[in-house]
Amino acid sequence: MCGIVGVLGNHEAAPLLVEALKRLEYRGYDSAGIATVNDGALDRRRAVGKLVNLSDLLVHEPLAGKAGIGHTRWATHGAPNVANAHPHRAGPVAVVHNGIIENFRELRAELARAGLHFETETDTETIALLVQHMLNQGMTPRDAASAAIGRLEGAFALALLFDGEDDLMIAARKGSPLAIGHGKGEVFVGSDAMALAPMTDQITYLEEGDWAYLTREHVEIRDASGTLVNRPVQTVNIDLAQVEKGGHRHFMAKEIAEQPTVLGDALAHYLRGEGIELPGPGLDFNDFDRLVMVACGTANYACVVAKYWFEQLAGISVEVDIASEFRYREPPIPPRSLALFVSQSGETADTLAALRYCEGKAQRIAAVVNVTESSIARESDLVLPIRAGTEIGVASTKAFTCQLTVLFLLALKAAHDRGRLDGEELDAHLTALRRIPGLLNTALAQSDQIATVAKPVSEARDVLFLGRGAMFPLAMEGALKLKEISYIHAEGYASGELKHGPIALVDKTVPVIVMAPSDHLFDKTVSNMQEVMARGGKVLLITDARGAKAAGEDCWKVLVMPEVAALLAPILYALPAQLLAYHAAVAKGTDVDQPRNLAKSVTVE
Ligand code: AGP
Repeated sequence: MCGIVGVLGNHEAAPLLVEALKRLEYRGYDSAGIATVNDGALDRRRAVGKLVNLSDLLVHEPLAGKAGIGHTRWATHGAPNVANAHPHRAGPVAVVHNGIIENFRELRAELARAGLHFETETDTETIALLVQHMLNQGMTPRDAASAAIGRLEGAFALALLFDGEDDLMIAARKGSPLAIGHGKGEVFVGSDAMALAPMTDQITYLEEGDWAYLTREHVEIRDASGTLVNRPVQTVNIDLAQVEKGGHRHFMAKEIAEQPTVLGDALAHYLRGEGIELPGPGLDFNDFDRLVMVACGTANYACVVAKYWFEQLAGISVEVDIASEFRYREPPIPPRSLALFVSQSGETADTLAALRYCEGKAQRIAAVVNVTESSIARESDLVLPIRAGTEIGVASTKAFTCQLTVLFLLALKAAHDRGRLDGEELDAHLTALRRIPGLLNTALAQSDQIATVAKPVSEARDVLFLGRGAMFPLAMEGALKLKEISYIHAEGYASGELKHGPIALVDKTVPVIVMAPSDHLFDKTVSNMQEVMARGGKVLLITDARGAKAAGEDCWKVLVMPEVAALLAPILYALPAQLLAYHAAVAKGTDVDQPRNLAKSVTVE
């Protein structure tokens, strides 16, 4: 998604803006630009592609000034080219914007009727022209910005600069996050605290509908009704080491390798005392007859895995849906429902909209998130942090296994609350769970072997992933990992579904990745594998030693995982799926951390 930064500083703004934008690269983008006010004159530089292209441009065409705004653009309206890159400008106004202005067409028509001319096809230019239109009617920059912002519909975060004003920046948020950074005689704006980390750790998060009138010495925040409000200043410690690659070639490799550590942190956070400790008001699952889980992408697959756990362990009925469907199908939410939203970023627009659909309907709204100051977290009754640390790679890895860990703890608590597990049985499950970080560490040692196997996989045009039970959503997650970073078409299927169509895809050119620990469903899966091999299919079996002994002989390749409690296999087996995708992408030479067309946080629907 797009990233926004702004500086009213005491040093040249351009290098600070570019440095801050680098910390937003993980969000995904296809162009970038900055604007500054220097001796009262507003000017801008923009470039397509990676930030290095903007830096090159600034070497040849420097931009002076201590007030500036910057932007990394992930194209929504309008192709990724210089003309459509931000900042957009209309006369004395420059704007950077993240989100979508849903009423920009009617605003464009109104502005065209007023004689204003458009240079681009973007919704963002409309904002600049609307502010200019208000200025043309004699309004001050502050009033013009306030009036224009009040006309905008949709989800946005924006920052405005004005010709002739080198100590004024106006910022607003409605649907997309925006933070203000406080320095000594300086003030900053950023899409998140990480962008501002090099300049300050004193952060104020704007709330929904807020807008801010900023000078170096004064920050004025007003809510959607225009009332002056006082938002708290927090100290947000972003460990910059967390934002670096730590010796790994890619952030994704680092984050895969961090899983034993961060899962251990998550377990320590929830298992500090006796049993499972939830934050704040907690949850008593005797209060609920039903659990509704909603998420997108990898987070959705975590929910599908958890569905098996909640049903098998706690005997509670579970509905899981992808947020983009849930929010529009108007599902009935009966009383005594717990609505649970899972999101790494906590800013995914569809998931946030689904949460808002449940407001006033579900008895409780809980969020399993990595970013605890995110919009989804702030709008939930209960926030359950996954403690994965900053995840930069667009492909979600450590967040996924941390989500699974927290969801498994919730399923255990549900089972214990509802009398389905006694204390001893609960302890047995917790003991098995505490072994997972060590097992992940053991599995990590197979990275080189997986890299070898990934090479022929990287040459395939199509790949099938198969799994049964809770390994079925894991097969879908494995397929998502492979396709999103290596661009190879991959599909995840329930093994039992093969005969209902997908087996027609099987021939010697299609690797079939079977994710099957030697559990109670293993024999069924072996039958499916044999159906594949009988048709010349190449089976890569990911299993444990017993499974390899029982069925590995005729397989194309076998990866042997450590033995793990059957229920917890999805957490452990996520690792080979991640490594397979990672090494296939490296073999193909794709942009592993920022795959084409993708964004880390999809804050538009
Ligand atoms: C996962 O590898 C993808 N990057 C994507 O599917 C992601 O899981 C999805 O966009 C949801 O993001 P969230 O967890 O931040 O809500």
